[in-house]
Amino acid sequence: MINSYDELRVHELTGNLRDDVYRFLREHHCPKTAEHVLKVGDEARRIAVLYDADPVAAEYAGYLHDISAIFPNHVRIQVSREVGLDVLPEEQQFPMIIHQKISSYMARDLFGMTDPEIWSAVGCHTTLKAEASLLDKVLFVADKIEWDQTGSPPYLRDITEQLHISLDHAAFQYIQHLWNQRESLAVVHPWLQDAYYDLRDAIRLK
Ligand SMILES: [Fe+2]
Ligand SMILES: [Fe+2]
Repeated sequence: MINSYDELRVHELTGNLRDDVYRFLREHHCPKTAEHVLKVGDEARRIAVLYDADPVAAEYAGYLHDISAIFPNHVRIQVSREVGLDVLPEEQQFPMIIHQKISSYMARDLFGMTDPEIWSAVGCHTTLKAEASLLDKVLFVADKIEWDQTGSPPYLRDITEQLHISLDHAAFQYIQHLWNQRESLAVVHPWLQDAYYDLRDAIRLK
């Protein structure tokens, strides 16, 4: 595992993002994440087609969303500071969460992504945020459906059912699942709280 951003080798890109990300993650000893991001890319494309989002941007965001897995939790705060990212107290307390921001930075810096929509979706894929865009929600839901743990997620059936109603319903389903157990979570990220109230209101108005 790599301990500082400076240690990252300059990566040779072939122009095929799917292959480039897969190889990058495997080279950095993250074979499980390499498989996971391909599945999330495919799922994000599928959801994008359902809800009129840009399928290519969705696929790319899926491939890139967990590239910061190459940094172990204990160096994530230091790496974030090294590259000038804003670190919130909740992230300091529970560094796993900041991997979304580091991945977004790497998408731009190492993989040459120039689309701010992709930076945004990658940068909030764990917590979502206030006034989330269509692409933010597509990636958020795709990552929850294609989760990176063994077995299938306990909320899978509910989220899949809600996805038939709307993308907001599906995103809210997962956030509510977290919200209901917020007392036992390591931290409640302020962006997650914003997304909870935002989506709850949006769904009520529908
Ligand atoms: Fe992630
Ligand atoms: Fe993920």
